[in-house]
Amino acid sequence: MENKLEKIVSLAKRRGFIFPGSEIYGGLSGFWDLGPYGAQLAHNIKELWWEHFVKSREDMYGISTTTIMSEAVWRASGHLEGFSDPLAECKKCKKRFKVYHLESKAECPECGGELGEEKAFNLLFPVEMGSVAGGTSTAYLRGELAQGMFTNFKNVLDTMQPEFPFGIAQIGKAYRNEIAPRDFIFRAREFDLMEFEYFVKEPEWEKHFETWRKEMWEWIEKVGIDENLVHELEVPEGERAHYSKRTIDFEFEYPFGQKELYGLAYRTDYDLSRHMKESGIDLRFSDPETGEKFIPHVVEPTFGLGRTILAVLTSAYTEDELGGEPRTYLKLNPKVAPVKAAVFPLVKNKPELVAKAREIYKDLRKEIGAVEFDDNGNIGKRYRRQDEIGTPWCVTVDYQTLEDGTVTIRERDTGEQTRNKMNELKDFFKNRI
Ligand code: GAP
Repeated sequence: MENKLEKIVSLAKRRGFIFPGSEIYGGLSGFWDLGPYGAQLAHNIKELWWEHFVKSREDMYGISTTTIMSEAVWRASGHLEGFSDPLAECKKCKKRFKVYHLESKAECPECGGELGEEKAFNLLFPVEMGSVAGGTSTAYLRGELAQGMFTNFKNVLDTMQPEFPFGIAQIGKAYRNEIAPRDFIFRAREFDLMEFEYFVKEPEWEKHFETWRKEMWEWIEKVGIDENLVHELEVPEGERAHYSKRTIDFEFEYPFGQKELYGLAYRTDYDLSRHMKESGIDLRFSDPETGEKFIPHVVEPTFGLGRTILAVLTSAYTEDELGGEPRTYLKLNPKVAPVKAAVFPLVKNKPELVAKAREIYKDLRKEIGAVEFDDNGNIGKRYRRQDEIGTPWCVTVDYQTLEDGTVTIRERDTGEQTRNKMNELKDFFKNRI
């Protein structure tokens, strides 16, 4: 299975999905850049998520808040105190290790030196702001998106007058000073999250928790993650985040083992209560019918984008044999595939075929956007390239096209080709993406 990870990392690099951050200077541990196909894949996943959880719902408000937030926010949220990993430092080589990853708590796994006492290491990244006389002040890169939703809770109430229950959603960057970034993009120091806080009345939290649990499974299927590789884990007390009274982790069987993909947490009224106390601002919801004022409780589904990409790539990565030749392809859901269709002339040296293929390409591009034109190398090589980036369909213009206006459409997963009318291509694709 580790071998599968190497293959995915290699494909992701070779085909322009994912590159190491700051690569030309030797890289920076825990930071990853997205190439042209990776950025498009990420964009498609975010768009699908936004459509599914925000745009299509009347009870969800999408916002976008800053990645640097005041120290007061993180003090109130408990992250300055409780957002930490227990680490032990080796007295000899000075490297630090997560205690719960260690087989022996006494001996350094790298140099065999003596391990020091376990200490809490905060994951928030501090930033120094300003350089005026009197010194700088410390703010923090956000460790989670949720605090942007809690600190804007009143703004959303005042401007949108939402009916209860309702949610506030956001997609954006989060930063954690992970001591041991590892497993490709699984544990990074900068990553994207898609997350929402769903505000409910306390007696109803379990009902909403169950509803979102089901919805998370629907999303897993929709985005193209193999459901057979996903398992729920009830996180025991003592291992839950400081704000959570109940958490279910959705774990995925990555090539390096079964680990967290998504989380569903019941955050009680912890965050709003703490912000109300620290800021002195009234963050209660006022029921317009009964006049009752209460601090809402929160159910929070959270979705890491990097881990979604890794789970999607792992689910999609396939090796098989086609026409007696071994091949590799990404069985991506067409909705998230970075390229929906590629258009080829059968051969490059027939100007009338190239011109027709270009015409079809331009036309399709206007309609469905993510279309590529390719006349490099032989057609087999072009198919292999499109298979590896997960393009669901390839359209080939051949001599028959010039006679009867039909083209072949080749289907990625089966390699099957069908003849279709050129002027029906738009409908063919529109119905499938
Ligand atoms: N607001 C809740 C929250 O942030 P979390 O479980 O700490 O919860 C949310 O993180 C999600 O972020 C995780 O389920 C995972 O998908 C992703 N995630 C967490 N740490 C990560 C890291 N270092 N690199 C990449 N993704 C990460």
